[in-house]
Amino acid sequence: MNDKYLAISYECLSSIGNSFELESMMAEVVITFYQSTKAVFVGFYESIDSILPTVSAGKDEDNEIKMSYYECFMAKSKNFYIIVLPLKMGYMKFVYNENKHIEDTYNMICNFKKKINFALSACVGVKELEKLNDELEDRVKQSVEKIREHEKMLIVQSKSAIMGEMLEMIAHQWRQPITSIGMISNNMLFNIIISEENELDKELFKNELEDINKQIKYLSHTIDDFRNFFKESKSKEEVFVNDAIDKSVALLKKQLEQNSITLEIKSTCGEILLYTYKNELTQVLLNILNNSKDAFDTQDIKDKKITVECMQENQNIVINLKDNAGGIKDDVLSKIFEPYFSTKKQKNGTGLGLYMSKIIINRHLEGEIFVKNVDNGAMFTIKIPIKTKEENKLNV
Ligand SMILES: Nc1ncnc2c1ncn2[C@@H]1O[C@H](COP(=O)(O)OP(=O)(O)O)[C@@H](O)[C@H]1O
Ligand SMILES: [Mg+2]
Repeated sequence: MNDKYLAISYECLSSIGNSFELESMMAEVVITFYQSTKAVFVGFYESIDSILPTVSAGKDEDNEIKMSYYECFMAKSKNFYIIVLPLKMGYMKFVYNENKHIEDTYNMICNFKKKINFALSACVGVKELEKLNDELEDRVKQSVEKIREHEKMLIVQSKSAIMGEMLEMIAHQWRQPITSIGMISNNMLFNIIISEENELDKELFKNELEDINKQIKYLSHTIDDFRNFFKESKSKEEVFVNDAIDKSVALLKKQLEQNSITLEIKSTCGEILLYTYKNELTQVLLNILNNSKDAFDTQDIKDKKITVECMQENQNIVINLKDNAGGIKDDVLSKIFEPYFSTKKQKNGTGLGLYMSKIIINRHLEGEIFVKNVDNGAMFTIKIPIKTKEENKLNV
């Protein structure tokens, strides 16, 4: 092979495998071979039975050659030399006028088989990889959607679970006023029975009826509180952090009293506003306080105490809820935010309270919630970034 041919070989070789896109890669090969080797026609056929080339240069001569599907071969038809190079995928056809270098050209083309095959494989591989990537992306999207739907379902479930806990609270809140009303009305009945006609003490009667009225107002007030709590808030609004704390405490007050649990609130969060769904923070606090109350049930502790602390730290609201109910066992600690995890078999725990709390804090308030054991009890910390009204509006 002389120098000139070496240069042609080099040029042809350099044109192979310059793109991962099959058609443009082969187009470069076809054109370079066509020009460098002075061919009459060069074509690439994507399949072994293709009649029309995928890419080609020059004018194909009407020649009837018998294809070999495996080996590179050269045939003479009329005044043309036809070289066919079967590839891993399809084949290439070269047509030349009679010339004295045809043997060299034939050898060179056959020698490039491996290299072209390799470049073709790379193109196919990349294409498959891209397809796989797309499929993977789709699959990830579908999975994320499934998870979101599952979460939604769990939130609905946990709402009905908390409804059960709330009914218990209502029952506790109502027990005392109903007993009072019962006692007052019994008293009145007794007075009516023992007194002679016209001898009834009107003043006493009036006072007792006023007492009954007061209790009834209280009952209706508590039922309104609970009803409002369960109203679905469709959109976010401004909520005072202190209000959320007060509300959760008010809802649980009676039960804490009946269980001799002291509650201490230390808050410097007075004027801090959050932009969120109205009852959600209350719900989270209620879940945590309820758990502390439950924890005391299984422990024999003298001075039962829950402390709620709220403060501002840099641009965050930090709420600490601490109890002295013995803390959470190490093997349980890492699982308590998982859905359906509960250690309350007898009490029919749902295991959804903390899971839902975490979703609310993470997703709706863009905050964090964590837990640790401190001084013979558990402490939950909620950290929520404070945003200006404008920042909040951007996030709607
Ligand atoms: N203050 C706490 N003290 C001890 N254990 C707690 C406390 N808070 C939560 N836990 C543990 O976390 C678990 C999960 O709580 P939660 O998600 O509210 O579900 P549930 O109250 O229905 O069991 C509880 O079963 C309990 O074992
Ligand atoms: Mg709970």
